[in-house]
Amino acid sequence: MELSGISALVTGGSSGIGAACVDGLVARGAEVVIADIHEPSGQPAGSPVDPPSHRHFLATDVTDAEQVAAAVELAASLGPLRVLVASAGIAWLTRTIGRDGAFGSAHDLDAFRRVVEVNTVGTFNAVRLAASAMSRTSPDATGTRGAVVLVASAAAFEGQIGQVAYAASKAAIVGMTLPLARDLSSVGIRVNTLSPGVVDTPIYGSGAAGRKFQDEQVDGAVLYPKRAGRPDELASMALELLGNSYCNAETVRVDAGLRLQSGVVSGWRGVGRS
Ligand SMILES: NC(=O)c1ccc[n+]([C@@H]2O[C@H](COP(=O)([O-])OP(=O)(O)OC[C@H]3O[C@@H](n4cnc5c(N)ncnc54)[C@H](O)[C@@H]3O)[C@@H](O)[C@H]2O)c1
Repeated sequence: MELSGISALVTGGSSGIGAACVDGLVARGAEVVIADIHEPSGQPAGSPVDPPSHRHFLATDVTDAEQVAAAVELAASLGPLRVLVASAGIAWLTRTIGRDGAFGSAHDLDAFRRVVEVNTVGTFNAVRLAASAMSRTSPDATGTRGAVVLVASAAAFEGQIGQVAYAASKAAIVGMTLPLARDLSSVGIRVNTLSPGVVDTPIYGSGAAGRKFQDEQVDGAVLYPKRAGRPDELASMALELLGNSYCNAETVRVDAGLRLQSGVVSGWRGVGRS
């Protein structure tokens, strides 16, 4: 699929993997709407994002139907909407039960709901609305109306101790890939999922605990190259999945051969950039 001259929507496009996808799409000539709760890194609040560069930021919470609809409408006004990258996501680490066995120290239910709400419901919200707008476009010369890339995680397959909420939210994304591709096949929209391993992004936070967590994951689980991935290495695969006309309904791991161990995760706890 041709990416030049099209419009694209990238949720979570202000940071990390999503921001690298924005860079790649802009470099290929797309108009890109960044739908994120945070301004793109380094941008003072309220300032337009690099106006001549074909990036358009709209403050958007992916869990909010009206806000996502507004972001989709903005994207559709900039050209034929052909691309959605759903990268918005948050991380969370808490064990299912506490040490004392008290109900009160069991995994907080609202935290579980919040992770699923942002990662799973938010992803689906973006797909259902972006794909609706794509379905109204005229197809390109090959009959294609669009391509969607979702973002899961190695935790969808090998969720670790403390990752129950995050793993469930990401396994749901893997699980929705095929039925979404089936639902959208009649209008010429492909759906694939990118599954990152450990990628050096702000999702781990800026503190020492986040860095330690990231280093431990790399040491214990990554084959080669034994380092965290760079966001552009993930974006490269996202762009391939968007552009490759014959790739559909697939989940692709980009993780240097990582297989997460059950892990006793030390020190780090929290919701990334929420
Ligand atoms: N970094 C990793 O190691 C890693 C590994 C596996 C999967 N992932 C997944 O990759 C995706 C991107 O993560 P990243 O590492 O680039 O993290 P990141 O924190 O750099 O970027 C995530 C972006 O999502 C945005 N966001 C969070 N909640 C939102 C909401 N409710 N509405 C709209 N935007 C929201 C944040 O503001 C942020 O800009 C996430 O889905 C994450 O789960 C990351």
